[in-house]
Amino acid sequence: MNNTNVNLNIKNIDDEALLKKSLGMFSTGITIVSTLDNNQKPIGMTVNSFASVSLNPPLVLWSINKKQPSYDIFLNANGYAVNILSKNQKDLCLHFSSPIENKFDNVDWNFSENGHPIIDGTLAWFDCVKWNYYDGGDHQILVGEIKSHYHKKNEPLLYWNGKIS
Ligand SMILES: Cc1cc2nc3c(=O)[nH]c(=O)nc-3n(C[C@H](O)[C@H](O)[C@H](O)COP(=O)(O)O)c2cc1C
Repeated sequence: MNNTNVNLNIKNIDDEALLKKSLGMFSTGITIVSTLDNNQKPIGMTVNSFASVSLNPPLVLWSINKKQPSYDIFLNANGYAVNILSKNQKDLCLHFSSPIENKFDNVDWNFSENGHPIIDGTLAWFDCVKWNYYDGGDHQILVGEIKSHYHKKNEPLLYWNGKIS
């Protein structure tokens, strides 16, 4: 082990900023997870905790911070759509990670078969219904069963080290 690695051996696990920095070394894609609220209004948020889980049955997961304003809506919904962003959709990523009202007003979208908002022009989407939800500390882990999906050949929008590119 060289000196550089020793310096990076961080043992103060209570330092959340440093922990986020280490976790941020794992690069991910960027998604917008969407559903309808009690008034049938579309809602959505930028999410990078998405992961595939199982092929048979077809399952995916993501996690939501329990402090999110939309937490109860997502937990009580019958499911959600996961919209995987293309490289040219950084504006959508920033839009859906901001606490603004009526996020879908200036966005082109359509209903999925299960009634979830599918955003136009994405790299891929998954229409999911609730499979099972699990406690995950300050987050809740939502596992969904894929009912339909779509993809096209394009470049993904990526998240690494706090940077979106
Ligand atoms: C790249 C990126 C990834 C994110 N991933 C998650 C996530 O996985 N889970 C989560 O609860 N919030 C995540 N967020 C934060 C939410 O997008 C943000 O808090 C958003 O404002 C929530 O929507 P709301 O304000 O309409 O409730 C992420 C933000 C960014 C920029």
